[in-house]
Amino acid sequence: MNADPTVDSPAPAPAARLAAASQPPLLDVRDFSLEFRTRSGTVRAIEQVSLQLRKGEIVGLVGESGSGKSVLSYAMLGISDAAARVTGGSATFGGIDLLKADEGTLADLRGREISMIFQSPRTALNPIRPVGRQIEDVLRRHAVHVKGSEGGDLGRAMHERAIQALREVAIADPERRAQAYPFELSGGMCQRVMIAIALACRPSLLIADEPTTGLDVTTQAAVMDLITALARERQMATLFITHDLALAADYCDRIVVMHAGQAVEAAPTRTLFAQARHPYTARLMSSTPGPETVLASLEPVPGNLPDLRRTDLPACRFAERCERASARCRSERPPLLTDADGHATACWHPLGSVRLVEEAAHG
Ligand SMILES: Nc1ncnc2c1ncn2[C@@H]1O[C@H](COP(=O)(O)OP(=O)(O)OP(=O)(O)O)[C@@H](O)[C@H]1O
Ligand code: SF4
Ligand SMILES: [Mg+2]
Repeated sequence: MNADPTVDSPAPAPAARLAAASQPPLLDVRDFSLEFRTRSGTVRAIEQVSLQLRKGEIVGLVGESGSGKSVLSYAMLGISDAAARVTGGSATFGGIDLLKADEGTLADLRGREISMIFQSPRTALNPIRPVGRQIEDVLRRHAVHVKGSEGGDLGRAMHERAIQALREVAIADPERRAQAYPFELSGGMCQRVMIAIALACRPSLLIADEPTTGLDVTTQAAVMDLITALARERQMATLFITHDLALAADYCDRIVVMHAGQAVEAAPTRTLFAQARHPYTARLMSSTPGPETVLASLEPVPGNLPDLRRTDLPACRFAERCERASARCRSERPPLLTDADGHATACWHPLGSVRLVEEAAHG
């Protein structure tokens, strides 16, 4: 993590941010709620979460394990298990209503316009197929027009396009690597192959769910550098899901913080680090190591996430862990309010001096 994200964060200049903010969002999720009906009760996994992504923006979705980052991201693309039920809100991508779209439309969008990178590349890759072939499969499945195929030699053109995709993710000797099976490649190399597969169809939205988990620190940085460089070069909207606030700070323009299925704070990275307003975000920051942190000085976030099956969950789901909690916090859900700088906070007693002017859906 940068020692001072207000100075070193790669977030774009204010003018660029303003220009981006004036574009309509590519992905627009509003008041999205979802629950799982299970034998042991209803898990209220996501409650009225809003999230917006514009072209070229890299947004970090951050929160502890179990806060709902993956469920939210997959459910809005129509990927969830039979027990899941969307109970409210909307989700659109490029004007298409994702919650009403049929499976054919969603399947076409996924992989072509919207791509995902998962946490464990080895399990996501087919173990018995050479990686080059797996890239070709994706191109074929989505009927991507490949230059050079006009003369009829589609197989050769697909193969060349797959090699090019491997080259774009900085895999040395791509002709040879294309023949390799996943088990013959390192974890970092497999993740690069996953990125090549995800980006082969030139999607306009990339969702990367903990893409560097399990990789060593150097490989983690290389993979993040690669994803964000390609995202910037292609003006691809990118949702980077992580429990690591420090990693999000280093790579994202904007950060959305989730706690127990609620979006609690959202702001441009520099703004967030200049003044976290939600007590949970502040706690996350003081539990996050930087390069010069003395580990003993780190304070973990107190308590645990509440059990989301409880029928007596406090309205602000952080209330039982929060030293500022009042009776109102337990009975009345704080709305996500935004100030003129685009800093949104859902808290009745925010940190710092705040004048919240507008209620809005933000991500
Ligand atoms: N199929 C399911 N049935 C019931 N509850 C579920 C199901 N899938 C997820 N959940 C619950 O939904 C909540 C959010 O889970 P989710 O996987 O989105 O968390 P996450 O923020 O992605 O965590 P992690 O950082 O560990 O990946 C959790 O309480 C989880 O137990
Ligand atoms: S609304 Fe209340 S309980 Fe929730 S974070 Fe703010 S002060 Fe704490
Ligand atoms: Mg997850």
